[in-house]
Amino acid sequence: MHTKFEFEYELFDDINGLSISDQHLLEKAKEATKSAYAPYSNFYVGAAALLSNDQIVIGSNQESASFPVGICAERTLLNSVGSQFPTLSIKTMAISYQPLGKDSNEPISPCGMCRQSLLDYEHRYGSPIKIILSGMSGNVMVLKSASNLLPFGFDGTILK
Ligand code: THU
Repeated sequence: MHTKFEFEYELFDDINGLSISDQHLLEKAKEATKSAYAPYSNFYVGAAALLSNDQIVIGSNQESASFPVGICAERTLLNSVGSQFPTLSIKTMAISYQPLGKDSNEPISPCGMCRQSLLDYEHRYGSPIKIILSGMSGNVMVLKSASNLLPFGFDGTILK
């Protein structure tokens, strides 16, 4: 038997295709790149989460002199939300980036570890996280759920 995994996502030419609320969140993610600590890669990533109480929390990548110790913007943000607002779920997360001296006009997509953490968070609260991906300008991708980014992911259900 052959089966197929596929998912739909939205693709806009620019930020103006988004709702006002999503535009605002993406602008916050762009701003958050300014708080990144990325002296080793010079790749500044920002993320912003809209919580279930409509509060916005931001995160950015924080690198380490011992390179593998550094943490991505998405997991900085998830860990911050999980510890500061443990009762609130995340409705939407926007992610953007600014590399030093280079263009930022195409979306980037979360790394594998961040995909796992996003899936963990969706399962923890039993609600999907809408994902908005964009550079500082240009195309914007919108996914209905972070789980789309990690087909056949390990969600821990078997541990219970
Ligand atoms: N990075 C993120 O923060 N998020 C991503 O989605 C991709 C990569 C960070 C990790 C590292 O600090 C820098 O970008 C270069 O990989």
